[in-house]
Amino acid sequence: MMEEKDSNPISFLVTDDNSHTLFSERFKTTYHSTRGAMSESKHVFIQNGLQYVHEQFQAKEISILEIGFGTGLNAFMTYLFAEEHALKINYQSVEAYPVPLAEASQLNYTNDFSGQEKVVFSQLHLQEWNREMQVSNLFTLKKHLCLLEEFSSQKQFDLIYFDAFSPSEQPELWTEFVFKKMYDLLAKYGVLVTYCAQGQMKRTMKKVGFDLQTLPGALGKREMTRGLK
Ligand SMILES: C[S@@+](CC[C@H](N)C(=O)[O-])C[C@H]1O[C@@H](n2cnc3c(N)ncnc32)[C@H](O)[C@@H]1O
Repeated sequence: MMEEKDSNPISFLVTDDNSHTLFSERFKTTYHSTRGAMSESKHVFIQNGLQYVHEQFQAKEISILEIGFGTGLNAFMTYLFAEEHALKINYQSVEAYPVPLAEASQLNYTNDFSGQEKVVFSQLHLQEWNREMQVSNLFTLKKHLCLLEEFSSQKQFDLIYFDAFSPSEQPELWTEFVFKKMYDLLAKYGVLVTYCAQGQMKRTMKKVGFDLQTLPGALGKREMTRGLK
């Protein structure tokens, strides 16, 4: 099992919608679009992922696997959606190079929120690794401290947020091996969403069995991808 270690030097940037993103020295890239971190998360993962699954399947309970916990922004936005829609969510996230707590606590995602949301956001980061926690009546969280390549789970998920760094920065996470693993981790009729729309990725996703939908991307980006099992 991996241990948390300080191997992830990062610096802060303010994106065009005023929300923070981080620049990773290790991967030489930002965690989100510099055009708007919160706006991108909302468009790609919440609207085209979570809201889609919620409406499509009229589910009262949805299980989600996120690839790359990072700043916790997707988890936080998902928590907000759960509260707003009285939807039960079991959220699991895989992360190999955690953002140190000192930095996570300076992220500005809760600036427009009251005390309760601020507490929840810090809980998301403070939570122990590899242990499930009830964050609220509706939202449970389990963060896995491991490489995606080594992650396995008996449980299958309704929805995957595939939020790795891009294929040019992390080609090892956009392989047939990884997408086959994602496909197998999805329950029947499960859905995967990613901000990426690269041709090679789409061919790989098709090859492992996904039906693909190409959707308008976030913030002027031409396209993003939704894969259906
Ligand atoms: C684009 S960022 C994710 C952003 C995140 N979803 C958020 O809301 O802030 C990609 C994340 O994947 C993590 N990561 C990189 N390589 C990984 C690997 N091999 N296994 C698991 N996580 C990895 C990085 O540390 C980073 O947190």
